[in-house]
Amino acid sequence: MNEVTDSKRIPVLIDCDPGHDDAVALILAFGSQRLDVLGVSTVAGNSTGLNTYRNARKILSFIGADVEVAKGAEKPILRPLVIAPNVHGESGLDGPMLPEPEPKRPPRAAIDLITDTLLTFPGKVTLVPTGPLTNIAIALLARPQIKDKIDRIVLMGGAALEGNWTPAAEFNIYVDPEAARIVFESGVPITMIGLDVTHKALIYPDEVEALRKSGRVGRVVAELMDFYSIFYRQQGFKGNPIHDAVAVAAVFEPDIVTTRYLHVDIETSGEFTVGRTVVDFSGVTGKSPNCHVALGLDRERFIKLIFDAVNTLEKKVADR
Ligand code: RIB
Ligand code: CA
Repeated sequence: MNEVTDSKRIPVLIDCDPGHDDAVALILAFGSQRLDVLGVSTVAGNSTGLNTYRNARKILSFIGADVEVAKGAEKPILRPLVIAPNVHGESGLDGPMLPEPEPKRPPRAAIDLITDTLLTFPGKVTLVPTGPLTNIAIALLARPQIKDKIDRIVLMGGAALEGNWTPAAEFNIYVDPEAARIVFESGVPITMIGLDVTHKALIYPDEVEALRKSGRVGRVVAELMDFYSIFYRQQGFKGNPIHDAVAVAAVFEPDIVTTRYLHVDIETSGEFTVGRTVVDFSGVTGKSPNCHVALGLDRERFIKLIFDAVNTLEKKVADR
């Protein structure tokens, strides 16, 4: 196993709402050996704040990831919380039975993990939010000096052309559009991994079966996909979109997506359009670009990254 030395690993902070695809994103983040994950924070989104915190700790404990998990916002900045039990189940991670590790101590607040890490780390850090942007927005407002320590934000959210929670809006942005607006207007470099590419990031049943046979980690990923596929088959998908793992992959293999540098505004009002990421393809707003919008994906390469990460963790889990 050619361990990538820590110095070559890209320092990241992950903020997530596990969530089946968030769980696979965490597996990719740690199994890839390409990232130095300085911390993981959780946010309410796919499920309640307590559930997403528990679920992150379950998956990280299962893969033997020794990393701090901080607990974040229980609701969006202004709006009531919207969750997705129809996609992720009542627990937010229905499917595999994963033991819940006892917390060693009460969790720090996400904003403290994010801001303290950014302000003390000797260098810039990439933020990888894969849920609503509530924690990121609060951190930017509370301690704006962190902006100089953020290399870029590679987020799963939004869409140039689609919506999945409403016809106009993707779930992460829809849940907390005010937070998204704060982030997109912050001036921090952003790569938006939206539905335009994540609806191409499909793992197909034959690939899931190959994972199931590969070992303990592969079996858990397959069981996650078994539950997750219930919703997506109803939606007419032939495979499961592993939305959040594309954001992780795009950090260490940026050319796995093709992007265009465009201006993106966030709709925060409007009877039918709240949560829309309004992408200015033709420059009609005259506003300067603020976001690298992902439009294309190399799916085969992406799926190989997932398999490689699972295989790497298999060895680690087997040795425990
Ligand atoms: O719209 C997909 C996004 O919403 C993913 O991050 C999924 O985990 C949910 O949070
Ligand atoms: Ca998510």
